[in-house]
Amino acid sequence: MTVTKAVIPAAGLGTRFLPATKAVPKELLPVVDVPAIEYVVREASAAGLSNVLLITGKTKGAILDHFDRAWDVEALLEEKGDLTRLRAIRQSAELAIIHAVRQPAPRGLGHAVLCAKEHVGDEPFAVLLGDDLIDARDPLLTNMIAVRQALGGSVVALMRVPRDQISLYGSAAAEPVPGVVTPELPAGSVFRLSELVEKPSPAEAPSDFAIIGRYVLDPAVFAVLEETAPGRGGEIQLTDALAALAQVDPAAGGGLHGVVFSGRRYDTGDRLDYLKAVVRMALDHPELGADFGAWLTEFVDGKDRDSSQ
Ligand code: G1P
Repeated sequence: MTVTKAVIPAAGLGTRFLPATKAVPKELLPVVDVPAIEYVVREASAAGLSNVLLITGKTKGAILDHFDRAWDVEALLEEKGDLTRLRAIRQSAELAIIHAVRQPAPRGLGHAVLCAKEHVGDEPFAVLLGDDLIDARDPLLTNMIAVRQALGGSVVALMRVPRDQISLYGSAAAEPVPGVVTPELPAGSVFRLSELVEKPSPAEAPSDFAIIGRYVLDPAVFAVLEETAPGRGGEIQLTDALAALAQVDPAAGGGLHGVVFSGRRYDTGDRLDYLKAVVRMALDHPELGADFGAWLTEFVDGKDRDSSQ
């Protein structure tokens, strides 16, 4: 069965960005000139997932407005002949059919994914976390879907990180799958996973593989999530459910693989990473990149400090 649905958890309170997120959802903070969550919906759409479910919560209404048509602004831009901006604001409404369900209380990522159960039904589906932006030139999700088609079960994205950073992520023990799993991926980039631990200390980490925020899940995950007790931080953790799912018989939807990602990823999870993401993406921006890069070089060289420009 092909994957057509994407689930994007967007119910987090955004406390790390207060006061900016007092009235504005953190998912709408701009990364250069596009709200962070639009990059994620673009990625889902580019992987062929045009059915997107947002898991939202209180104060998140503006996210839905962003993906809706804005007839009044469109009419104004049309009148002015500003076709570039007109295309840009229409694009967000045309990327996918957006659905929403509310997570009634902040009970963790696993619980947020469980809120998608009725919408997803009995199909494999993708989960994309908004704090991780994957460069549009890297077809990670498409490759993960191909691995799911080849091996069944569920698939997560993995990235090697220095041991002292592993406690920021879920981690897993990983055994390489021999040979080529799908023609798009080189041999040695797919691993069979077991022993998943959410945010382990460096000493207890099963490997230096971190799980990054892309998942292709078998619907069997819902039954497992329903039985998953609160874990780290008192929250229902997706990582704990995946640890259990890895042990389930493949004939019943179990089994878990990881695809190693070595492309460009931008983390927007906290303020410092967010600033780095903005700078890196601004340097790549087709209109702003060259001028911004020239200014940044001067700034770093100390030439533009204390200037009022
Ligand atoms: C979540 C997951 C974690 C994963 C991370 C990827 O954590 O719980 O397993 O490694 O996303 O970004 P969060 O960053 O939401 O705390």
